[in-house]
Amino acid sequence: MSVKRKQIRKIGILTGGGDCPGLNAVIRVVTKAAITQLGLEVIGIEDGFLGLIRNRMHPLGLDDVSNILTVGGTILGTSNDADPIRFAVGRDEHGKPLFENVTDRVVEHVADRGLDAIVAVGGDGTMTGAANLIERGIAVVGVPKTIDNDLMHTDITFGFSTAVQTAVECLDRIHTTASSHHRVMIVELMGRNAGWLTLHAGLAAGADVVLIPEIPYDVDVVCEKCLERSKRGKRFTLIAVSEGAMPKGGKQVVDRVVHESPDPIRLGGISAVLSREIAQKTHLETRATILGHVQRGGAPVATDRVLAMRFGHKAIQLVAMHEWNNIVVMQGGETTFVPITSVAGQQRLVPIDDPLIAMARSVETCMGD
Ligand code: F6P
Repeated sequence: MSVKRKQIRKIGILTGGGDCPGLNAVIRVVTKAAITQLGLEVIGIEDGFLGLIRNRMHPLGLDDVSNILTVGGTILGTSNDADPIRFAVGRDEHGKPLFENVTDRVVEHVADRGLDAIVAVGGDGTMTGAANLIERGIAVVGVPKTIDNDLMHTDITFGFSTAVQTAVECLDRIHTTASSHHRVMIVELMGRNAGWLTLHAGLAAGADVVLIPEIPYDVDVVCEKCLERSKRGKRFTLIAVSEGAMPKGGKQVVDRVVHESPDPIRLGGISAVLSREIAQKTHLETRATILGHVQRGGAPVATDRVLAMRFGHKAIQLVAMHEWNNIVVMQGGETTFVPITSVAGQQRLVPIDDPLIAMARSVETCMGD
């Protein structure tokens, strides 16, 4: 019988990739609605695809998802280095990881556990993994999450607004000490190759300079802005820089390479590079701060809680309609869905004609170009 028509009794749910605030809100609504409205059994898959590979799963009941709406992280755990088609199974004599395709094992575990479908909550990496499972006949419904807000075909992902709020709080704090000490303060934000987080947080915090990966910067333009502010009597400058930002004709700064991960490059360190260059060129005092994983932690803000619930609710509707292999998205304020394959392995970057960039320039924010 085709997956489209077969009767659904049991679903699994997993959270994959980097965590973000709002994952528990999705787990809660999916579990509650599946049990109370569709009469399904729900199985929590532990640590993303790792749980499918290692057969680590447990039943989720109503009590298990009680009191988790406001809690950050994910009660299921997650991993961003467990891709079934390229799973690290050990190391060779030179310490290099050895990979194996363990998809057969995943298919076996899904069958053993009697899972009729999987709700996969994740970003582009998780959706790439989900697309591979779909090819092996496993029915999947995707739910998008990421603080980077870089998933294709959705206007917003949950986790983003909370990360923006957290980053703004940090920028506000750095603003006051920048002002006291008359320093150039450079604050580095996450976001991989997309500048959404830095652009939104930088604007909301009134940063004087906002540097995003989509607009390679000229360090002399940035120095000019700092000096010009100094001459005007503004004796400090607040710079928000994306971890993925790069100078014109230059490269991104890589912090580490996680070979086991489907997306092995971890960016980081551009703020220190900029800090040294600006100090050298302007003789102004500079300091760099990397916000790091603080941006992924903590309780979701109210809008992320509601967004996560809307996504989870839509996912359960797709399960009820046997509308497999799609991912829920938000388009023009409405939840809808697109094929998982259309978002897998892709990134939604800030268009350089985005109205927010024009707006930033209109309030004299230097975009580094
Ligand atoms: O995709 C979310 C994200 O937080 C990125 O902004 C960042 O580049 C990356 O994950 C960090 O990954 P890790 O948790 O492996 O250090």
